[in-house]
Amino acid sequence: MRSILILNPKGGCGKTTIATNLSAHYALRGHSVVLVDFDPQGSSMDWLAVRPEDRPPIRGIAGWERPVRIPKGTDYAILDAPAGIHGRSLSNLLRRVQTVVIPVLPSPIDLRAVEHFQAELMHLGGVLRKKVKITTIANRVRENSHTREILEDYLRSLKLPEGRKLPFSTYLRNSYIYLKAAERGLGICELAPSLTVHELELWKPLIRWLNSRWSLPA
Ligand SMILES: Nc1ncnc2c1ncn2[C@@H]1O[C@H](COP(=O)(O)OP(=O)(O)OP(=O)(O)O)[C@@H](O)[C@H]1O
Ligand SMILES: [Mg+2]
Repeated sequence: MRSILILNPKGGCGKTTIATNLSAHYALRGHSVVLVDFDPQGSSMDWLAVRPEDRPPIRGIAGWERPVRIPKGTDYAILDAPAGIHGRSLSNLLRRVQTVVIPVLPSPIDLRAVEHFQAELMHLGGVLRKKVKITTIANRVRENSHTREILEDYLRSLKLPEGRKLPFSTYLRNSYIYLKAAERGLGICELAPSLTVHELELWKPLIRWLNSRWSLPA
């Protein structure tokens, strides 16, 4: 089973958006997908609640309510972390997963926050012992903007313990199609292709990385 955690203690950076879209991506390809929502706000569970019955099914687990047991036969467990997670709850979550995706917004406040978070990550055992593989992505960017370049350069410069690079996968644009999909319980991959061609292109580097051995612990 693949387990992928979408994580950043900074609120509103796109964790739930990435978690729901990744879940829809894998479900659409016939995989058995479980979406675990660790946020008591329950945004991923709300998304599942409006997901049409004729769409490929995704099982939801309200991870903030009780201990999580991933059902046997699950191909992908996508974990949506809550904002403000630190310390022991953070290391407990990291212990459960193979792979972490960190979305970051192009704002000075979010950049500073990710700097603190990276410092915290550097000290966690699982990261030190290479038990989890991490990537960053830039979210809600304007494609040809200077702020996007600054964010991307910054994310590409981040390092892990022992000077290992923290890989940067892709950037996603700020686009109304994410809202359009979210309100209907869909991923953007389930909207009309005419609306989503460019957006889906931008997802490809992340999906490729997730499908590669580079995103799996050794
Ligand atoms: N690429 C995007 N384009 C447009 N809107 C986006 C994009 N990514 C996220 N959003 C919107 O930004 C808001 C915050 O996103 P989201 O809920 O995914 O963040 P979050 O990190 O899960 O927040 P929280 O920390 O509160 O759980 C939502 O309204 C979402 O629809
Ligand atoms: Mg969320």
